[in-house]
Amino acid sequence: MEVTFSTTELQGEGVLACYLDDDLAAFRLYDYMESKGDGQLSRAIEAAGFTAEYGEILDIVAPVGLSVQRLILIGTGPADQLNQKKWEHLGGELMSYCLTLPQGSLHVVANSPLSVAVGLSLRNYCFENYITKQSSKKPSLIETVTIHCDNPEEISQAYNVQRVIIEGVHLVRDLVNEPANELNPESFSQRMKEFESYDVQVKVLDELKLTALGMNAFLAVGQGSMYETNMTILEYDGTHGMNTFPPVVLLGKGITYDSGGLCLKSAEWLAMIKLDMGGAATVAGTILALAKARAPVKVIGLLALAENMPDAKAFRGGDIIKSMSGKTIEVVNTDAEGRLVLCDAMTYAQRVYNPEIMIDVATLTGSVIRFFGREYAGFLCNDTKLSQGLMAAGEATGEKIWPLPLDTIYDEEFKSPIADIKNYDVGMHQGSMITSGHFLHSFVEKGTKWAHIDIASTVCSERDRPLWKKGATGYGVRLLYDYIVNQSTEAKA
Ligand code: BES
Ligand code: MN
Ligand code: ZN
Repeated sequence: MEVTFSTTELQGEGVLACYLDDDLAAFRLYDYMESKGDGQLSRAIEAAGFTAEYGEILDIVAPVGLSVQRLILIGTGPADQLNQKKWEHLGGELMSYCLTLPQGSLHVVANSPLSVAVGLSLRNYCFENYITKQSSKKPSLIETVTIHCDNPEEISQAYNVQRVIIEGVHLVRDLVNEPANELNPESFSQRMKEFESYDVQVKVLDELKLTALGMNAFLAVGQGSMYETNMTILEYDGTHGMNTFPPVVLLGKGITYDSGGLCLKSAEWLAMIKLDMGGAATVAGTILALAKARAPVKVIGLLALAENMPDAKAFRGGDIIKSMSGKTIEVVNTDAEGRLVLCDAMTYAQRVYNPEIMIDVATLTGSVIRFFGREYAGFLCNDTKLSQGLMAAGEATGEKIWPLPLDTIYDEEFKSPIADIKNYDVGMHQGSMITSGHFLHSFVEKGTKWAHIDIASTVCSERDRPLWKKGATGYGVRLLYDYIVNQSTEAKA
């Protein structure tokens, strides 16, 4: 979607949308349109009983005196109760309405042009590649938006950064929505090659290399798959070697399909578990956004890509595996596979990149959904400043996140009688987000600041929301982008 900001008059084809607060008189175009339309505006407002409540929409078709096909009024409620997030949502609500209309271009008048543009663009997404019967009446997306405001150049510059972040969000949605018969560890990795045109170095560790490195926990998970397990590495250095600080390393769980392995999931879960590569997608989307924006930061993304399938070659309950760290792991449940791929990725990250900050993003547990519904992601963290930074980023971007405790008492649940550690706690906390985080914590080496973000709760939505449709949300890109840019500014200061 092409978004332009302009001061010019409101003419052209398509839809003209105006936001107005509950004090209708404050609507700056009211007089103009009322006179053009010969009083149609006030008659329509009265006939519809429109009071400009927050999110209320009045759609006037074929407005008299204007060249557009529709004039849409959107209420904002009381002006003093508005903030940036509400404006974003108002943008999203408008887009969600426009996506049902035959018009493909939109002109908007709003007091908060940047936030409205962000909301509009985030919501302007659909995943319809597999629907063969397209409607001829309705374009599936809005193609152009013109936002009328007083200082177009300034807003336009700020929007350019937001635009690449939103492209990252949409990439995550595409990857997560893609079915597992199309997106597998090999094709996912292949798609990352496109990043090279944005100054991102893409490296792939294939099974041979992973074996040589001793990443047996990671390899075990993919053993039953017809696709090759791989670690795809995205390196972006926007400081061009000028930065002597260690990079931030992002790790993404990239299980392109999690059948549960021999501990097979139920039919209901099998139908939706293609989303299990959401962590890897989020890491990819974040790095792509940082690279496109040429952000002056140094980040490494490790995408641990594998498919968890039952097969004669699959790993089994009871297997004992030696992880890259040297620690042996008793496999109690083949469906607790995310921690197995991540623990090796963590060891690799720490040995090779010696990061100060390491953040893993994963659809790790169903338990985080039981904690938070679909509203918050949960996280565990061993460093106060990192924890506060993530919370602040969540607050700033509206991608909500909440901490859970890190306490050695939980480590006891992973004691195994026959190996160093087991992958599943059979005690009272089974499958919990807290204990799985503790499993990962035991692979954090001394001095590494680490956070584990469980996004199983936020990766997909069961209903339409202002900024996304049912399906993949793209959660995490805005959060991580904001965190990384801010922490690098602080590190330099
Ligand atoms: N990928 C799943 C968690 C998941 C479930 C994410 C539903 C998104 C939606 C993970 O690998 C898993 O299977 N977790 C189990 C762990 C248990 C077997 C220890 C869980 O949470 O039930
Ligand atoms: Mn699983
Ligand atoms: Zn999984």
